[in-house]
Amino acid sequence: MSFPDGFLWGFAIAANQAEGAWQAGGKGPCQADVMKWDPSVDPHDIAMITSREQLEAALADTEGVYPKRDGIDFFHTYPADLDLLAGMGANAFRTSINWARIFPRGDEPEPNPEGLAFYDALIDKLNAVGLKPVITLSHYEMPLALITEYGGWANRQVLDFFNRYADLVVDRYSGKVAYWMGFNQINTGLMDPYLALGLLEDEVGSITQAKLQATHHQLLANAHLVATVHRVDPQARAGSMILDMTAYPASTRPEDVLAVQKADQEVFYAADVLVRGEYPGWFAPYCAEHGIELQISDADAALLAENVSDYLAISYYVTRVIGANRASILDSTGWNVLGDLPNPHLPSTRWGWQIDPTGFELALLKLADRYPGVPILIAENGLGNIDVLDADGRIHDDYRTEYIRDHVAAMRRAVAQGVNVAGYLVWSGIDIVSASSNERTKRYGFVYVDLDDQGNGTARRIPKDSYDYFRQVATSNGRMS
Ligand code: BG6
Repeated sequence: MSFPDGFLWGFAIAANQAEGAWQAGGKGPCQADVMKWDPSVDPHDIAMITSREQLEAALADTEGVYPKRDGIDFFHTYPADLDLLAGMGANAFRTSINWARIFPRGDEPEPNPEGLAFYDALIDKLNAVGLKPVITLSHYEMPLALITEYGGWANRQVLDFFNRYADLVVDRYSGKVAYWMGFNQINTGLMDPYLALGLLEDEVGSITQAKLQATHHQLLANAHLVATVHRVDPQARAGSMILDMTAYPASTRPEDVLAVQKADQEVFYAADVLVRGEYPGWFAPYCAEHGIELQISDADAALLAENVSDYLAISYYVTRVIGANRASILDSTGWNVLGDLPNPHLPSTRWGWQIDPTGFELALLKLADRYPGVPILIAENGLGNIDVLDADGRIHDDYRTEYIRDHVAAMRRAVAQGVNVAGYLVWSGIDIVSASSNERTKRYGFVYVDLDDQGNGTARRIPKDSYDYFRQVATSNGRMS
């Protein structure tokens, strides 16, 4: 079976993990620029920022390695990189606009023309090589001044700044973008309030209240984006993305199964708002029970109801195992709340990410049941691994080929059962910097970039064995997999 006509096959990256050039062309510092590479950290841990001191120390640090500041220098190398990626016969490419290139502080009355000029050229290049742009507006690139001077997304003024930025770029790139995506993994602010919401945990009082209020503002921003796109760029689609975290019960004990149901509510509540236009029924009672008072006006509710997303994007990497004694992600922070319990039936990567293609089929079937008819865009799926440059000058990454083959097969089974999947974008096409560990050696690409964690190397681009495999998948519309 092949996939529907017009199915998107391509790649996904984020500006902050690839572009580098963190101070070029008038760009301001953003969230990701202060994330430090630390070789002493256990690979299972995810680096987090929780305080203003950490931010200030990072900005003042002249010794440490901050890999996202240099990325893979995609800011300068994108023309050749995109030629190489287009050579796989793909038809789509997801990247983000770095908000801090357009508004270096976030609150300026006028945009930075040099930042706009960069994205003018990048988006034109994507279209020229036949890669339909899927453009994320917020992927861990909030200008730092909006965090240190405004308190991040908990402050409603930030919503106004974001809307102005969104209106500007939608208008400017109207007719050139296939999918507008407001937020990367809009539900991950629950685990990582700094990176996704710009909150400094030790300054916000009730973290649960701050996370939910800040996420509400992002949901409003998504609704505003949908309205703008429908008005200005009606042939494009608008929406946002969640991290899918399909869960299995730790046992057949009813309490464990109930825990999975509650975990699903937390994972999907933001998607419920995006796609259904209203908060789910359990949400208000939960807030009342926990003394959480959110500012959600009638006008907010109307905006959400009137501007539901055209599609739902997901990233899918892992499934998790949950028991009755799990920690809720609503009232705690840290990615460890996701780790939950290991699944003895699944292999794991070095970083403890369990590989589960059948879980991918399950995730897609569940989404189709939860949101009937809503197109699902796979905005990220891929394998992070340490690749070795062999003596023959090649990278023999059979494990990546196998991973993609098994996940495409799972997706095919879901499509055959009626799930409306719009496309499959592999994270990350070309090696970039890891979001969670700030390593360059946690590689996801079909194209190897000869740089190590500290940025040493030739930066030469070398197609891996999986490059040839994915070319066969993309050019045959998934028949060959
Ligand atoms: C997703 C993020 O959660 O996972 C990406 O949207 C990230 O930014 C990707 O890179 C893979 O995670 P990591 O931490 O291995 O880079």
